[in-house]
Amino acid sequence: MAGVVILRTADAVVARRAEVIATAAGLTTVLDSAASLPGPPDLVGLLVELDLDDSLEAIRDARSADPDCTIVAFLALPEPELWRRAEAAGADAVTTRGRVDRVLAETLADRLSGRRRARRVRLAPLAEFAGRLGHVGRIEDTPAGPIALYHLGGTLYAVADTCPHAGASLCEGELEGAVVTCPWHGSQFRVTDGARLRGPADFGLTTFPVVIEAGDAFLEMPA
Ligand code: FES
Repeated sequence: MAGVVILRTADAVVARRAEVIATAAGLTTVLDSAASLPGPPDLVGLLVELDLDDSLEAIRDARSADPDCTIVAFLALPEPELWRRAEAAGADAVTTRGRVDRVLAETLADRLSGRRRARRVRLAPLAEFAGRLGHVGRIEDTPAGPIALYHLGGTLYAVADTCPHAGASLCEGELEGAVVTCPWHGSQFRVTDGARLRGPADFGLTTFPVVIEAGDAFLEMPA
């Protein structure tokens, strides 16, 4: 499959490595830290250095121009807020400069093989959850709607935060052990596996894997 990967970076080392990766995959690269997107019609991927101006706009433009475009963003230093905004803008993967080669190679390989990989949303360093138990967070903007995060028995659990009965936010309900009670009409759910324990809700909660990598917690969204 011929195609182009735009390298929107001012980092010559990253650009050179990305070119090697793209060439090995049979793709060509365009080094373009300033040109406007969307790029060429055979655009396959976009590598974005988030420290550059307009990097989030570049991600949004590429994503709206081509929902299947592979977008990898990277940062010289982890900045949680920028990281999250890049994910919300539509990046398939956000990573640090040190890991960008590996992540770019993996995401391009997925694209070229037609495999859909779960999209990751960075939550926080695992250390931030140490000593906090029960409901520890709510992630507002995800493709699957708001998600509630619970820390129980040393494990993080992520479940849909919207009650399937009439839409209450379960974060506002009482948590007893692993059971949350909906604040509106009393449905109960087990947050460790999403099981419905008591109606009136007819269904349980969707659960989402939480993975830990290099000391950070990530939510895995369905592809
Ligand atoms: S909205 Fe949750 S039980 Fe009705």
